[in-house]
Amino acid sequence: MSIGGNEIEIHPVAKDLQKMRRYFEKPEDQLSVIMEADPVCLYLETTNRCNLLCTTCPRTFEELEPEADMSWGLFTSIIDQYPKIARVVLHGVGEPMLVKELPRMIRYLKERGIYVLFNTNGTLLTKKNGQELIDAGLDELRVSLDAAESSVFQMVRGKDMFDRIVTNVGNFIAMQHSSHTQLPRVSLWLTGLRETLAQLEAFIRLAHRLGVMEVYLQRLVYLPEGQGLARPESALFEHTSQQEEEILQRAEAVARELGVLFNASGATEPGTSIKKQKDDNPWSLCRRPWSLMYITANGRALPCCIAPFSMRGYDSFTLGDATQQSMREIWNGERYQEFRRALLSPQPPPACSSCGMRWSL
Ligand SMILES: C[S@@+](CC[C@H](N)C(=O)[O-])C[C@H]1O[C@@H](n2cnc3c(N)ncnc32)[C@H](O)[C@@H]1O
Ligand code: SF4
Ligand code: SF4
Repeated sequence: MSIGGNEIEIHPVAKDLQKMRRYFEKPEDQLSVIMEADPVCLYLETTNRCNLLCTTCPRTFEELEPEADMSWGLFTSIIDQYPKIARVVLHGVGEPMLVKELPRMIRYLKERGIYVLFNTNGTLLTKKNGQELIDAGLDELRVSLDAAESSVFQMVRGKDMFDRIVTNVGNFIAMQHSSHTQLPRVSLWLTGLRETLAQLEAFIRLAHRLGVMEVYLQRLVYLPEGQGLARPESALFEHTSQQEEEILQRAEAVARELGVLFNASGATEPGTSIKKQKDDNPWSLCRRPWSLMYITANGRALPCCIAPFSMRGYDSFTLGDATQQSMREIWNGERYQEFRRALLSPQPPPACSSCGMRWSL
């Protein structure tokens, strides 16, 4: 890139992020209710089972759907309908590393040239499992750690497993270094809570110590009435105090000093991500129902990975059933059309009215 005649070096990861953002951007005049173009990204909930009890996660508080792993048959039938898709995310609400078929699924996607990533809680990232992910060709691994110390981890993630995860991540990075493997790109994620923002600087230092060179501040999504720590009073969005702004600035400075890329999910920099994006109707900035599809372990189509966190129960935003309909039938079916129409109006679907924009890419 050239600014004022000077060539400015852009970090390769930042370049990737820009590219991903472009996938999801759509000018307003392309927001038709029927979409000719296929989605560019699929979220496949490889399982809805989990081994943690995070106090921000709806899964901890209610059974969202019958417990299941996505069957190999459903997985391949979805991919075979979109073999040229740009990107597949292998998590939904659940822990993907519990799934035995996960490396095989990754391989299936990589054979088709698809960019593959998922978030994990890191508890099962043993050396053996880690090696399988590397061998399968995974592109990106996002570890949701949420804290820089054990007691805070336990408050947010519900179990005493901080040390084990930190050891797992450290071993994984060491394994990558010793075998000179760059992929998967590893990052650490912290959900932005008023209760844990003070951890941020130590979190960045911990990442650096482990050899993880990317850290993300993830915006909290919550039910308006609150559930666990997913509640309005814990959110940083819109109402950061002077002290919290200072914590963020300090974290940015530390990250720069250590050469850690510090970013906020979907936004240009962490401060922007937690500020309101558009005053009147923030949902109008959302492009997800025009660019991606989310299929649960049981085959239910949802508009995005955010709705399960912003609205209780799946009924009001279920858009189809991938075990009964083709993906293209769902993508332009009545329910998708209605959802898109409502999202373009001043009366959005209920899940969207309490949802902002620009979190998880
Ligand atoms: C539901 S988890 C599924 C993948 C895996 N189990 C994990 O924890 O990374 C996906 C992401 O959602 C994040 N998350 C959990 N509760 C959240 C909330 N209320 N708002 C925003 N993100 C949340 C997790 O930290 C994780 O990064
Ligand atoms: S955030 Fe992830 S690890 Fe935590 S309970 Fe939800 S699915 Fe499980
Ligand atoms: S819930 Fe939020 S992210 Fe999902 S479609 Fe609605 S506005 Fe977009």
